[in-house]
Amino acid sequence: MKKFLSSAAMLLTAVGLSACTAKANQVSNEINETETSKNEFMDLKGKKVLVAYFSWSGNTKYAAQYIAKKVGADEFEIVTEKAYPTEYQPCTEVAKAEKEANARPEIKGKVENMDQYDVVFIGVPVWWYTGPMALFTFIESYNFEGKTVIPFCTAYSGPSQTLKDIVKATPKSDHRNGICIVTKEMGGKDMDQNQVRIDKWLGEIGF
Ligand SMILES: Cc1cc2nc3c(=O)[nH]c(=O)nc-3n(C[C@H](O)[C@H](O)[C@H](O)COP(=O)(O)O)c2cc1C
Repeated sequence: MKKFLSSAAMLLTAVGLSACTAKANQVSNEINETETSKNEFMDLKGKKVLVAYFSWSGNTKYAAQYIAKKVGADEFEIVTEKAYPTEYQPCTEVAKAEKEANARPEIKGKVENMDQYDVVFIGVPVWWYTGPMALFTFIESYNFEGKTVIPFCTAYSGPSQTLKDIVKATPKSDHRNGICIVTKEMGGKDMDQNQVRIDKWLGEIGF
């Protein structure tokens, strides 16, 4: 079973976020973080939707499953072939090394028939100011041209480059504004507090 360092001080030390001033359990709706397309108000109801996500401790998984249930989407969990350490500090070290190497960790399984999806939510935890490198393995494994890509993330302090990096990595897609859910907890412990905010965001982007 995973052991998590839930103490704010340890988290900050581990990821070097000592400048963080966010309040405990604060929820942040970063609706201006991504570029929007001209048809941003087009209704997305009735479209075939996939929610693809990576989650280490469960926060992003909670958000992904909540979104999928709300919009009636299929889900795909991005899981690396090589598991990350279950302890927080070692995990940050592996993640940092992968980021520095611009690695592309291998992913288990494939999305069945990606062509069928009009809309793909892509969600990740913020790892070292962007997504885990498996995010980029995932994006580079498919053709997102012509699809609407909607980024989301969970984080301890904020999205940094994460939402923008998802947009940047899918240049031939339409995009909707993303959301970053900020939480001081891990394991999805306080994620139910974010349901109203997620509902509001889904309404704003066409669901
Ligand atoms: C390896 C690692 C790096 C992290 N880097 C950041 C960061 O740069 N900025 C931030 O706000 N939170 C950072 N965090 C905190 C996570 O983004 C946050 O706890 C997230 O909600 C965890 O999502 P998950 O439960 O889906 O794994 C990091 C966590 C880990 C494990």
